[in-house]
Amino acid sequence: MKAFVIEYGEQKIKEMENPVVEKGDVLISLKTAGLNRRDTYISGRRGNDKEALIIGSDGAGVVESIGENVTRFQVGDEVIINPSLRWYEKTDAPPKEFDILGMPDHGTFAEKIVISEEQLERKPKHLTWEEAGVLALAGLTGYRALFTKGQIQSTDTVFIPGAGGGVVTYLIQFAKALGAKVIVTSRSEEKRQKAKEIGADLVLDTNSDWKEKLVNETIDLVIESVGGATFNRSLEVLKKGGRIVTFGSSTNDEIHFNLRSFFYGQYHLFGTTMGSREELREMLQFVEKNGIHPVVDQTFNLSEAQTALDYLSEGNQFGKLALYIIN
Ligand SMILES: NC(=O)c1ccc[n+]([C@@H]2O[C@H](COP(=O)([O-])OP(=O)(O)OC[C@H]3O[C@@H](n4cnc5c(N)ncnc54)[C@H](OP(=O)(O)O)[C@@H]3O)[C@@H](O)[C@H]2O)c1
Repeated sequence: MKAFVIEYGEQKIKEMENPVVEKGDVLISLKTAGLNRRDTYISGRRGNDKEALIIGSDGAGVVESIGENVTRFQVGDEVIINPSLRWYEKTDAPPKEFDILGMPDHGTFAEKIVISEEQLERKPKHLTWEEAGVLALAGLTGYRALFTKGQIQSTDTVFIPGAGGGVVTYLIQFAKALGAKVIVTSRSEEKRQKAKEIGADLVLDTNSDWKEKLVNETIDLVIESVGGATFNRSLEVLKKGGRIVTFGSSTNDEIHFNLRSFFYGQYHLFGTTMGSREELREMLQFVEKNGIHPVVDQTFNLSEAQTALDYLSEGNQFGKLALYIIN
């Protein structure tokens, strides 16, 4: 089968052995896969001395065959893959067995994948294959950040910098579906317009004076994924006693942080990453109930995976990028 791999530091399309179904496993013929920022980091994290790894965490497709003891799925079922491996219950942090699909295990940028039935959910019927293929990782991360960690209420005003990010486009839609007020920032006028179209109530230029612009707003909750470039400025607009949730650091992992301002402000800071199967199922129900559609900026063919990764690295997308595996 065709797959996009990283082999001895080189990223390329390669002919790989078809994966084999074992007890409890399901063979999926993938229709689409979804890109995540993580896919752009794998090469650097693995080094140049390792055999071929198929990257990719997100995907959707059709069950082609099932192994012994598989009870929840049949041949022909339409499914999405849960990339949050072996994290089932909604716990404060993932168990030690937790990994993300796409390293160290082979991922979704391939014609087929074999995976435990525990990692599969039914594809929401209202979604296209592209939409289904980009939902799980970012939707789950956003859901846990907003609901489990952020404890968002319908009466809250939530502030989210970096409107163009894949996860942020879910955050905007989830928070709006709940009835909260959503304020976002972006460096791009085009992305600010698009953020309004998917429901943002107020959009700011990331480079403007947020404190001045938000003087009449009370920010109950901040969801931060931009990192070093915005974290302290985000904290400055949060109300005293408010909550700030962080799950990303696109710009920088390290910040200079004033402890005195923080404890005088009585703020609550939460870290989060991905989420459990329980939260994924809640997220899928929420998406179905509210008729939410993932924002897909562009779809590429599997053979263009490198072009898609380069496009993601440039950061001009609004929302998610998908790969067609089999049309
Ligand atoms: N922990 C987890 O489980 C998890 C899961 C998913 C993602 N993440 C992390 O979360 C972050 C967001 O990921 P993503 O895929 O949703 O989005 P992304 O495509 O990395 O976009 C991040 C957003 O950050 C903003 N940004 C980037 N550089 C900036 C700068 N110099 N100044 C101000 N804003 C800047 C951009 O907003 P504008 O272009 O609109 O200005 C961009 O849309 C990444 O760091 C990713 O690794 C973590």
